[in-house]
Amino acid sequence: MTKSDELDQLKCELTANKGLPLREGATNLVFGEGDINAKVVLIGEAPGFHEDRLARPFVGNAGSLLNKLLLKSGLSREEVYITNIVKYRPPDNRDPLPLEIQAFAPYLVRQVEIINPSFIVTLGRFSMNYFLPQAKISEVHGRPLVLGGRIIIPMFHPAAALRRSEILDLIESDFEKLPQIILSPEDFMVKGDDENKDQMTLFN
Ligand code: URA
Repeated sequence: MTKSDELDQLKCELTANKGLPLREGATNLVFGEGDINAKVVLIGEAPGFHEDRLARPFVGNAGSLLNKLLLKSGLSREEVYITNIVKYRPPDNRDPLPLEIQAFAPYLVRQVEIINPSFIVTLGRFSMNYFLPQAKISEVHGRPLVLGGRIIIPMFHPAAALRRSEILDLIESDFEKLPQIILSPEDFMVKGDDENKDQMTLFN
């Protein structure tokens, strides 16, 4: 089976699973889009109003900012893959609940395995905490970590940047650094994190 077939099958399984939370209140499943061979996968939180309508991730205001940030980093939407941890819109755009995140987790795991990126950019704390449950976004944003043979790069959520100008400054500078982080992740790791450094050596 090709990667594209595998992703189609996964999407069909998601669509067919009537037991998934948030399904009733949503208009569409927002599976994800982009280059299925991408080296970089970006993972947000959950679809919002516009995403739910169009069945596409990050197409509202946060999406416009994300497009600009990607352009700044020299990457285009076409060369990355974008998805969310939760694939249906939570009512009134509330935060996803732990049980909801858990219900979609097996699908996200498979989606990432199929695409098999070297880098995962997490957008916001929900996506980051899915991979790094103890991490604090204010401490680790823009700092790559090795996890399961991939490099996780935590970033703030673009929607948070739209609300607070100090976050906008930070997310802009993190995205500007993204090409260098991808080229040489060990230069951006937290100093003294020897365990991670060892893993990074193994990874390279
Ligand atoms: N916010 C997200 O986390 N994901 C989207 O797809 C849109 C907004």
